Amino acid sequence: MKKAYNFFAGPCVLPEEAINSTIDALKDFAGTGIPLISISHRSKEWEGVMNECRALWKELLQIPDNYHVVFLGGGASLQFLYVAMNLFENKAGYLETGVWAKKALKEAQGIAKSRGKEGAAFAVASSADKTYCYIPKGYEIPTDLDYFHITTNNTIYGTEIKYDMDCPVTLVADMSSDIMSRPVDVSKYGLIYGGAQKNVGPAGVIFAIIRDDVLGKVSSYIPTMLDYRTHIEKESMFNTPPVFAIYVMTQTLKWLKGIGGVEAINKINITC
Ligand SMILES: Cc1ncc(COP(=O)(O)O)c(C=O)c1O
Repeated sequence: MKKAYNFFAGPCVLPEEAINSTIDALKDFAGTGIPLISISHRSKEWEGVMNECRALWKELLQIPDNYHVVFLGGGASLQFLYVAMNLFENKAGYLETGVWAKKALKEAQGIAKSRGKEGAAFAVASSADKTYCYIPKGYEIPTDLDYFHITTNNTIYGTEIKYDMDCPVTLVADMSSDIMSRPVDVSKYGLIYGGAQKNVGPAGVIFAIIRDDVLGKVSSYIPTMLDYRTHIEKESMFNTPPVFAIYVMTQTLKWLKGIGGVEAINKINITC
C-alpha cells in the first residue's frame, strides 16, 4: 500500500499504532461486538476510554490536581468564544502574533461589546506591522486584566513562544499546534486549550485544561453549552461526545507515553 504524509494545511501525521488500534475498534470496540462509532457513550467501556484519556493528559503534562481537563467539539475556533464567554468581565489583553491570535481577539471584542464594554478587549502588543514574523518583546501586561491570551505556536507564520512565561494575571494559551511537543509548566497557566488535530489526534475534538479558580467570576449569562463548568461537572459528557476523535486521541497519547512522553518527543523535535 502506498504511504504518504500530509504537510499541507490541516491535520497531523498520526502514529501507525494509533491508526491500527482504531481500525480494530471500528469493527469491534473493546470486545463488545459493537463498532466504536455506534457505542453508547454511557457504556462502562466508553467511560473507561474517557477516564484513560483524562489520566493520560494528566500524566503526560503533569497537570496539578487543581486543574480540570475537558474534551469538547467545535474546534479551537469555538474555544476563542468559550474563553471570552467564561473569563471576560472587565478587561482582556491579547498578544496578537498571527491569524489565530487575531481571530481569538475578535471573539473577545465581540463579547466585550455585547457586555457593554466595547474596546475593553484589546491587543497588548502585536507583530502585525511585519506580517507576524516575530514575537513582540518588551511590552507590559496590565495588571488589571481578567486574563492575558497568547498563542504559543503561530501556525502559518511559524513563530513560537517556547517557554512558560511569568504573567501577573491569568494566563490563557492556545496551544493547538505545539501541545505535547515539549514539557509545559501547567501551573503557570489559568487555561490551556487547543484543537487535537495538529499534535494529538484527529479533527473533531478539542482539549481544555482549566485551573478551577479561574471560572465563576463572570456576572453575565453564559449559555449552558458554552459554560466550561457544564462540561467539568459532567466530565465532558453533558452531551454526546465525539467518540471517534477521543478514541484516536487516547491511542495517540498511549503511543506518546510508550516512547517516553513529552520529554522524549521534545528531544526528537529538537534533533530533527
Ligand atoms: C494555533 C491555532 N489555533 C486555532 C486553530 C483553529 O483550529 P480549528 O480548525 O480546530 O478551529 C488553528 C488551526 O490551524 C491553529 O493552528
